[in-house]
Amino acid sequence: MIIHLKNKNALVCGSSDGIGRSIAIGLAAAGANVTLFARNAEKLGKVLVELDRSIGQVHTMLVADFSDPKSVKTAVESACLNHIYHILINNTGGPPGGLIADADPEAFYSALNAHLINNHQIAQVLIPGMKGIGHGRIINIISTSVKIPLKGLGVSNTTRGAVASWAKTLATEVAEFGITVNNVLPGATKTGRLSSIIESKAKKGKHAIDKVEEEMLSEIPMKRFGSPDEVAHAAVFLASDQAAYITGTNIVVDGGRTGSL
Ligand SMILES: NC(=O)c1ccc[n+]([C@@H]2O[C@H](COP(=O)([O-])OP(=O)(O)OC[C@H]3O[C@@H](n4cnc5c(N)ncnc54)[C@H](OP(=O)(O)O)[C@@H]3O)[C@@H](O)[C@H]2O)c1
Repeated sequence: MIIHLKNKNALVCGSSDGIGRSIAIGLAAAGANVTLFARNAEKLGKVLVELDRSIGQVHTMLVADFSDPKSVKTAVESACLNHIYHILINNTGGPPGGLIADADPEAFYSALNAHLINNHQIAQVLIPGMKGIGHGRIINIISTSVKIPLKGLGVSNTTRGAVASWAKTLATEVAEFGITVNNVLPGATKTGRLSSIIESKAKKGKHAIDKVEEEMLSEIPMKRFGSPDEVAHAAVFLASDQAAYITGTNIVVDGGRTGSL
């Protein structure tokens, strides 16, 4: 199967690093014009020059802090003035860890703003254009905690469930317009996010980093962490024409870790 995304415009959130960066690189390699979106202009600029331009793809970038949904909305509206997006990748940094019983109620507002509210308002800006052309792909990068909550990630688990329910509901509403809405659920994937989770587990439990990694790997049937590219492949497929009849679903990319169907 060869995926062609020539003449497709993609907005990729959280694309200065990690999984979002790999998705942006994958979409551009398949021919898409990519708009990178995150808060650090310098990091975004470095990714921008890495994107494939071999068939005339045109790439650009947007900068806003996802902890401020108003500025995210303003930035997206400006990008959409003369532009229709075929593909939206909703993604940003994960909420901090911690037990749910200890969580400050404010942490739920922050996490819901960064994930649910931003996803929602970006989709609201892009969907009219997608409806107009009868085609759209909305892909949310969430977590396997949608299926089984992960220990020590209370606020994150709660927020992920909300995003998954939002996505499923939206999928049923926009399906008749040729717009699909799906989620990619990464397992332990080698990015800055994973390193900071490992470091904080090591600090809390007073263990060596190696020991924490070993314990995490013992729970993964493939006995290795995933790469951001492996998660990106699932997103690029969902963005393709070939995935036209797949909507309202979750693709788990976790080396077999999640113990549910
Ligand atoms: N890696 C894993 O093992 C794993 C597993 C399950 C789920 N996930 C989830 O998958 C998503 C992506 O994870 P990742 O590992 O790729 O994370 P990452 O390497 O930390 O990358 C996060 C991306 O989001 C951007 N970002 C973070 N905070 C932002 C903010 N306030 N405003 C704008 N952009 C912001 C970062 O850009 P700047 O900092 O440059 O702005 C970066 O581009 C997260 O929700 C994460 O929790 C990851």
